[in-house]
Amino acid sequence: MKLAVIGYPIRHSKSPFMHNIWLDELNIEGVYEAIEVSPDRLAQQIQTFKENHYKGFNVTIPHKEHVIQYLDEIDETAAILGAVNTVVINNGKCTGYNTDGDGFLQSLLLKRTAEEIRKSAILVIGAGGAAKGITGALRAFGADQISVANRSPEKAERLIKTLGLKSGLNLTEAQNRLYDYDIVINTTSVGMYPDTENLPLDSSSMKKGALAADIIYNPLSTQFLIKAESAGAEALNGIGMFVFQGSLAFQKWTSKEPDAAGMMAKMTDKMN
Ligand code: ATR
Repeated sequence: MKLAVIGYPIRHSKSPFMHNIWLDELNIEGVYEAIEVSPDRLAQQIQTFKENHYKGFNVTIPHKEHVIQYLDEIDETAAILGAVNTVVINNGKCTGYNTDGDGFLQSLLLKRTAEEIRKSAILVIGAGGAAKGITGALRAFGADQISVANRSPEKAERLIKTLGLKSGLNLTEAQNRLYDYDIVINTTSVGMYPDTENLPLDSSSMKKGALAADIIYNPLSTQFLIKAESAGAEALNGIGMFVFQGSLAFQKWTSKEPDAAGMMAKMTDKMN
């Protein structure tokens, strides 16, 4: 089975490490490669995948939105988000999915029960592609107390309208009300290597026992998580989201469920 991830650049992707271990563990003959594809070669690359009988591929920055025009079908979630991270090829037909939001949700379920998630006051920081996927998945799961805080308010307003949420906040308002939230999620890239000293807002005013979640996994502990923990909050790093979005993609290609827990341990070791 031939699989791949396309992006530009792509050399830092950890996806080949993860998927090749899973292929091996499940005795599936195949290989998952990272292929650097510049935007002007996207259409051509997809044609090559079809001609060479690839089973599917992952899509990362900067192709998640542009890839849609070259696909034959996209599922409802990906259509609403306007972004695809997983493509399945069946008899030459490409179908696009987005597993990022559900991947995050599955990792959140390691820390909170479904019932707790549904009744939590949730703050999402950021309003980009990642925020859209995560907020959409939380809404679909039945969480209805979700606020979005973003640096530029227009973008937050757009997300709020798309998902039918009540209102947005600017970062100062979010900072002032941080204590009111049970779950605070950083979906921005603020704090990611190499600018590891930055944080999207000062999480040291979070409530004790609340949960701080970051989608970043390099470093494993961002300043956002470290400060939240200093206030007595729990921390969830981005390893779980990365592994579960991959696991959901892997299941679409192979119809087999890979070992996500084992992979979280392996990825954590790798990042340490
Ligand atoms: P992705 O698809 O990975 O979510 P994106 O669409 O570029 O990436 O979105 C990045 C998000 O991080 C945005 O919400 C962005 O805020 P703006 O809408 O104001 O641009 C947010 N972000 C990026 N850098 C930031 C910073 N230094 N401080 C606060 N927010 C930041």
